[in-house]
Amino acid sequence: MDWIRGNTVGRGSSATVSVATCCRSGNVFAAKSVEFSHSEMLQREQNILSTLSSPQIVKYMGYDITMESNKLMYNLMMEYAAAGTLHDAIRDQRGRIQESMIGQYTHQIVQGLEYLHSSGVVHCDIKCQNILITESGAKIADFGCAKWTSPDHPEASATMPIAGTPMFMAPEVARGEEQGSPADIWALGCTIIEMATGMSPWPNANNDPLSVLYKIAYSGELPNFPGFLSTKAKDFLSKCLQTDPKSRWTAKQLINHPFVQEFNLSQRQNQKSFTCSPTSILDHRAWTSTEESETLDNIFVTKSSSLSRRIGGLWLNSRAPNWKWEETWITIRENVEGVKQDKNVGGC
Ligand code: ADE
Repeated sequence: MDWIRGNTVGRGSSATVSVATCCRSGNVFAAKSVEFSHSEMLQREQNILSTLSSPQIVKYMGYDITMESNKLMYNLMMEYAAAGTLHDAIRDQRGRIQESMIGQYTHQIVQGLEYLHSSGVVHCDIKCQNILITESGAKIADFGCAKWTSPDHPEASATMPIAGTPMFMAPEVARGEEQGSPADIWALGCTIIEMATGMSPWPNANNDPLSVLYKIAYSGELPNFPGFLSTKAKDFLSKCLQTDPKSRWTAKQLINHPFVQEFNLSQRQNQKSFTCSPTSILDHRAWTSTEESETLDNIFVTKSSSLSRRIGGLWLNSRAPNWKWEETWITIRENVEGVKQDKNVGGC
């Protein structure tokens, strides 16, 4: 099926997201694209996203391979969120979201996490930039770092590298020990701080990622809880931001925490008519797992490498990451780009 690529709405180190329109139906969707030769991460994302179906997860719509300007492109198609990301929402509200709204978004993210974790998936890169805002609420997106947790899953691998965004890494992840579902809960705590303050969970460390990773890994310190939040909100944060992953609450427990509990009923009412299922489950596994690689926004590191070697390697690498916490995806929604509207052959 033909589709037309429209404006670019987000750009990361590993892929570009454009609005796209299906020629036949006129339906609008989002196409996350990268040159085929660099598409391992995007294919990993497709592999996981294609199995998921939940109102709190961005809806998978298929994938295809196209030829554009003489380049072979890999495209992952998903629902388009016109309102953009939670990160955009913070910026639009001048850096701070009201607590009632934080509660509502948090509730939806926790529901998404509960679904993911009970499906045996860990996201590994929860942060405001990876949460999309849609008419039916917040949805978890960007599964480029995600992995299967169950060792029985055919795609699970004991050698999966540790991945994610340093500022949002849980202590056990920063130490390179493990990255299970509790790591997503720590990152959720960091995301709540980001919503409340419009700043990184470690605002004093923006220019020194090396020290923030050491601090997270070995100091036992927690990010500062915003003083203006209610007791309920701070208590919720304290359940997420436990240095010991075993002491952290699970998504299932958090759903019933008083900070988000009040949204349980209204959510069910809002979503009575919401149904979604993967458009297709595709068997495309041309990729091999990454041994050690890094991207501008988030890093992949092998479990076995020591923290200092890993960090040192990142600094020495000429593709040194941009550690500014807010710059993972350059959102260019307002600044409509004159992207060439190539006609592609693909599904929609
Ligand atoms: N940015 C990243 N993914 C997106 C999507 N599916 N819709 C809108 N903006 C996005």
